[in-house]
Amino acid sequence: MKLPREFAEPLRRLADGCPLAARVVWHAQTGSTNADVAALAEAGASEGCVIIADEQVAGRGRLGRSWSSPAGSGIYASVLFRPEPGVARLLTIAAGVAIAEAIETVAGIAPVLKWPNDVYLQEGSRPGRKVAGILAEAGGTRERTWVVVGFGINVLPTSFPPDLVARATSLESELGRPVDRGELFAMSLVNLAARYDDLRAGRHRAVVEAWRQRASSTFGRRIEWGEDGASKSGVVRDIDDDGGLMIETAAGSARVVSGEVRWL
Ligand code: BTN
Repeated sequence: MKLPREFAEPLRRLADGCPLAARVVWHAQTGSTNADVAALAEAGASEGCVIIADEQVAGRGRLGRSWSSPAGSGIYASVLFRPEPGVARLLTIAAGVAIAEAIETVAGIAPVLKWPNDVYLQEGSRPGRKVAGILAEAGGTRERTWVVVGFGINVLPTSFPPDLVARATSLESELGRPVDRGELFAMSLVNLAARYDDLRAGRHRAVVEAWRQRASSTFGRRIEWGEDGASKSGVVRDIDDDGGLMIETAAGSARVVSGEVRWL
């Protein structure tokens, strides 16, 4: 389907020459854009193809959860990357930075990142409620890996499912003014491409540092996470150069590389 003007015009204006803006496919409705792009990856599609949908009926979240994706309310999009091994491990951190930067540029509000790449709008000194999430899914062979980076941004006010109401929000609900979905999508692609370039050029430190800046309000906070079937807790200190979360616990230092952390 033809990309609606709401998205086509800002892509031309803001993402001219961006390698991720050249092959954008629009679906009015789909199951999951991540599933769609993963199927393209398996079929041999080259890096840089993008699918965006107005509505997802089986939107996927991290850790097997679903992602609420009502029509006309948000940005639901996925991008195909075929990264070198050294690049893949930081792609998920880089994507969080890119989406947070796009929100700041377009909506004029600076979001906070919660490890690894949840995007929150701060409420006072607390991280507040989640406004965007990223799901990176990988496949392929050792020689030819693909990574689908899917991002969902809640833009317009919507009614979230009961289990999310207290934890999720949308940009427009928080700001009380309209936010341009097309501009936000275009800037997300521009920033994703730029941060991917950083990784490919070996500028890993710059990406990690940008993540750190946006997560600094969560440093020093106590969190809980699951490991080997047990619940552990400690205080967040930093992330390392591979994107692992560094925690100080009563038993010494710990490193979290996957799963979910919960603020206490
Ligand atoms: C999270 O749980 O925070 C990650 C949410 C990722 C949602 C996006 S929406 C576009 C893409 N397609 C999906 O099915 N999921 C991702």
